[in-house]
Amino acid sequence: MLDIRALIKSRSHETYDLHKRYLNHQFVRVLEVIGFNRNYVSGKGAYLTTDKGEEVLDFLSGFGVFAVGRNHPVVRQVLHDMLDSDLPNLIKMDVGVIAGLLAEALAKIAPEGLDAVFFDNSGAEGVDGALKFARAATGRQKFVYCKRGFHGQLIGTLGVNGGAEYRERYEPFIPGCVEIPFNDINALEAALAGRDVAGVIIEPIQGKGVMVPDDDYLPAVRHLCDATGTLFIADEVQTGLGRTGKMFAVEHWNVIPDILIISKALSGGFIPVGAIITRREIYNKVFDSMDHCWAHSTTFGQNDMAMAAGLAALHVMAEEKLVENAASTGEYLLAGLRKLTEKYEMLHAVRGKGLMIGLQFGAPKSLLLKAQWHAVHKMNEDLFGQMITMPLLDKHHILTQVAGHHLDTVKILPPLIIGKKEADKFISAVDEVLADVHKLTGSAWSTVAKLAVRTASSA
Ligand SMILES: Cc1ncc(COP(=O)(O)O)c(C=O)c1O
Repeated sequence: MLDIRALIKSRSHETYDLHKRYLNHQFVRVLEVIGFNRNYVSGKGAYLTTDKGEEVLDFLSGFGVFAVGRNHPVVRQVLHDMLDSDLPNLIKMDVGVIAGLLAEALAKIAPEGLDAVFFDNSGAEGVDGALKFARAATGRQKFVYCKRGFHGQLIGTLGVNGGAEYRERYEPFIPGCVEIPFNDINALEAALAGRDVAGVIIEPIQGKGVMVPDDDYLPAVRHLCDATGTLFIADEVQTGLGRTGKMFAVEHWNVIPDILIISKALSGGFIPVGAIITRREIYNKVFDSMDHCWAHSTTFGQNDMAMAAGLAALHVMAEEKLVENAASTGEYLLAGLRKLTEKYEMLHAVRGKGLMIGLQFGAPKSLLLKAQWHAVHKMNEDLFGQMITMPLLDKHHILTQVAGHHLDTVKILPPLIIGKKEADKFISAVDEVLADVHKLTGSAWSTVAKLAVRTASSA
């Protein structure tokens, strides 16, 4: 027998060494430099526990994977039942009932008309597949995507990824991809004018920086796509399944895309899974003959464990009214955090919907603080955000992240199960951290100076 619990326990002190040796050593260095190199040993709901017994409030939720919280008892029970059922799974020359049930469940909650589902294993895989679907359905090759839009890091998806930092070193990508600014309908109109674009891929709310479009933007995208025969591909890998206070973020603007991509939260936090949801007529253009019955496929797609995790996650979301909770707790958090913009001159804005929220920082007006702001940015364009996330973790035991390169945005993606208690804890922690950051002699400034030195010396 492999005693996995004993193995983990006996070797957990070696975690960071193992990663340095066999995995991504540069990431380990980053964690060490910013002091995030903790050993988390358990997780329950919205909380993590370290090997030192420290309880950490998780406002990152595995980049949105743990929408139902960690180790949800219902998802666990379903997966235990699955393991105990001796199901055959992945026979490949059959079709399975659980995939059918999950597809049916998704078709019921998806925007009207989207009822044909393809299952895959990740967000990027869904994006890549959606590009194929759009090419097959339109017979066109080009794609339009938005600056700073994030759609995964495979070579295919990098072609439509609007983050220069992800693209550099890997070009060329698939030909015929055009970048336009997000939230700029004139730019989209110009890009679609030739009526030769297969699809426009857009995150309804951009994850990098948590950018919320103007209210008329997505309806106008829908209109332009209809007028030019272009497919509207909504990447809801992060925003989908309740994150923004609606089941899908496009619902905030009453827009129905042609292709919807989801992943992350569908996993229940356990088994990687993704799905492309589209109209039957688009689906049928890919699978248009028996010869083409495998025109798009992936070995682990539709595997029973992922399908069951998906069913369990949707069940929990409905039972616990997590979409409604994301909306109300999100409103509460946004209101509390927005109040802080009146108190702290470096907190310029608080953006977001539901439980996808970005805190936007910017240069202060006071001369001396402004000098410190510029000095920190001169050292490193990405340091300021760490002045917020580091004390949030060290002093307040709350895990957050910086929301993208050179943005001065701190982002939170808490599990959708949090309530007023967690929201209040976060608001008062941010209040305290910002009070310190707004003092010239605040500890955050000396910490960040040390961090800059450490970063430079370990470069
Ligand atoms: C909007 C969006 N699309 C695609 C992806 C890629 O997903 P994955 O990391 O599962 O490939 C992500 C991941 O963060 C995402 O946020």
